[in-house]
This record gives sequence, structure tokens and C-alpha cells, in this order.
Amino acid sequence: MSELISGKIISAQINEELCLEVKQLKTKGIEPCLAVVLVGEDPASEVYVRNKKRTSEEIGMKSIGHNLPDTTTQRELETLIQSLNADPAVHGILCQFPLPEGLDEKKVIQTIAPEKDVDGLHPLNAGLIAMGIPKFISCTPYGVLQMLKRSGISTSGKNAVVLGRSNLVGRPIATLLSSKGWDATVTVCHSRTSDLAEVTSQADILIAAIGIPEFVKANMVKPGAVVIDVGINRIDDPNKAKGTRLVGDVAFEEVAAKASFITPVPGGVGPMTIAMLMVNTVNAARWQNGLTEMDL
Ligand SMILES: NC(=O)c1ccc[n+]([C@@H]2O[C@H](COP(=O)([O-])OP(=O)(O)OC[C@H]3O[C@@H](n4cnc5c(N)ncnc54)[C@H](OP(=O)(O)O)[C@@H]3O)[C@@H](O)[C@H]2O)c1
Repeated sequence: MSELISGKIISAQINEELCLEVKQLKTKGIEPCLAVVLVGEDPASEVYVRNKKRTSEEIGMKSIGHNLPDTTTQRELETLIQSLNADPAVHGILCQFPLPEGLDEKKVIQTIAPEKDVDGLHPLNAGLIAMGIPKFISCTPYGVLQMLKRSGISTSGKNAVVLGRSNLVGRPIATLLSSKGWDATVTVCHSRTSDLAEVTSQADILIAAIGIPEFVKANMVKPGAVVIDVGINRIDDPNKAKGTRLVGDVAFEEVAAKASFITPVPGGVGPMTIAMLMVNTVNAARWQNGLTEMDL
């Protein structure tokens, strides 16, 4: 049976470190501040935004919410972001995606000042990751790296297989794991990959980020592999009060019996993503005040 890598526990450790860090910054007159922009009333996005606000408050950081109606135009949204870019009291800006139809997410990402892009999605920050000199690392990939590091899992010289090539998750994880310092040999798989199970079975470290419930089965996993499940999928379950439950991209029970380490869903990568957003915001405040980043 494999060992569980708990994102709940690791993110709680990081949040404790952040609490101390924010306290110290406040003694220097710096109050890290995250501005969160939500357009429309998507229920899942509302939950994510609430969680981000709650965690900001828990670590003593300021968070400002801007809730806009779904009738908001591209120009109105970009004008708000430009005003946040210009506000020295705001250190980090996050626009919750997906945006309502008709709004252009790529343009919004490019409107956020790179030095306040705590989601790490601006082309400049994505480019710095690609060059091996990351500044803001997008929160989910950053969370995955911290889970590996804090679980004592070495990536150097290991075969890592990343399932998924999205700009948000798969691609940055693959780039980071192959960069100097992490030093894994990385294969990226996607919907056109042939003999997928053959490829994934070679992985010492397997990262699943495809958005298909319980797609990764035990026969796709090398015995003793480290399995990180990024997927968050809601499936029907008549036994639950709500009638649904969350599962990852990995068939947890059968893969856990074969892997050496595995992350659960929920309670795995999800809470790490929020913790790393907080880290990025604190680092944004540090950099904007001429300090170096936190030592994680
Ligand atoms: N834990 C968190 O905090 C967190 C954060 C973000 C996302 N997520 C979850 O992570 C999952 C992935 O998110 P995403 O934004 O990266 O999704 P996405 O943009 O939809 O990308 C999915 C990727 O999976 C690939 N794919 C789809 N079907 C496949 C198959 N049968 N075999 C191999 N590859 C396949 C796609 O390939 P193509 O490129 O060929 O289409 C694509 O590259 C989702 O469940 C999402 O909810 C979790």
C-alpha cells in the first residue's frame, strides 16, 4: 500500500509559515494584498473565490474582492485590472476563470501587470518558466513541486510522465520538472498519444492532469511509482447526500495498491493550489518592496 501525500497537511504547514512571514512584513509596514476579480455568478468560481478570501484572512493578509456582473464588457474588465495594476497597495491580482462567454481570457491575462500576476499565467511569467528562471510559477504546478519536495521525493534522473499539456497545468509542470534543479526526464502525453499505458508504465513519477474521472488505472502504473493526481471531477453518487462526489483523474484504490506515494482527491493538489497563490502574493509584496522571495 502506498503512502499518502496529503495536500491538506502540507498546505497547512505552508500557511503557518505564511502567517509568520505576513506578521514580519507587517512590522516593516508592508501588508500583502491580493485583489480577486470575479465576473458573473458561476457557483464553482464563487466557492473558489470564497476559499481564497478565507485563506488570505487566515494568514493575516488583506484581500479585496471585485464582483462584477456577467454583463461586464471586456473594456470594463480591462479598465478595472489597469486600475489595480496602478494601485501600489495591491500586490497581486487574480481574475477567476472561466469568464462568462464573450470575454477574452487571454487578453485579460495579458492586461495584468507581470509583477502582480500571482496566477503565473502572463506570457512573460510563462516564458521565464520556459527559460528556467521562473519568477511567478502558476499555482497548481507550484503546489505539485512543493508536494514532491516536502515529501522528500527526489526527481533528479527520474522518468516523469505528465498526462495533459494545458498552459495552466500540464505544460508548466513538465517544463519545471525538466529544468535544472528538478532534473527529471519528462514525457508529455495528450489526447493523441499512442500506446498511452505503455508510456505511463515507464514513469517513476506520474502526474495526471486531464480532467477525466478515474482514467488512470493500475495497469498504467509502474509498481512503486509516485502518482500525483491533479484532476478534480464531480461524478454522480446516489449514496451521497448531494448526489455527487469529487474524484481525481486516477482510480485511487487500485492505483494506491501499486504506487509508492499517491495524492488523494479531495485533499491533495487542490489545497496546495490556494496555498501557493498565497505564497505568490507574499512574494509579490516582497519583490515590490525590494526584498527577496520567501525561502520555501
Ligand atoms: N487541483 C487543482 O487545483 C486544479 C487546478 C487546475 C485544474 N485542475 C484539474 O486538472 C484537470 C486538468 O485541468 P486542465 O485545466 O489542465 O484541463 P484541460 O485544459 O482540459 O487539459 C486537459 C489535457 O488533457 C489531455 N487529455 C484529454 N483527454 C486525454 C486522454 N484520453 N488521454 C491523454 N490526454 C488527454 C488534453 O489533450 P489535448 O491537448 O490533446 O486536448 C489536454 O492536454 C481537470 O480535472 C481540472 O479540474 C485541478
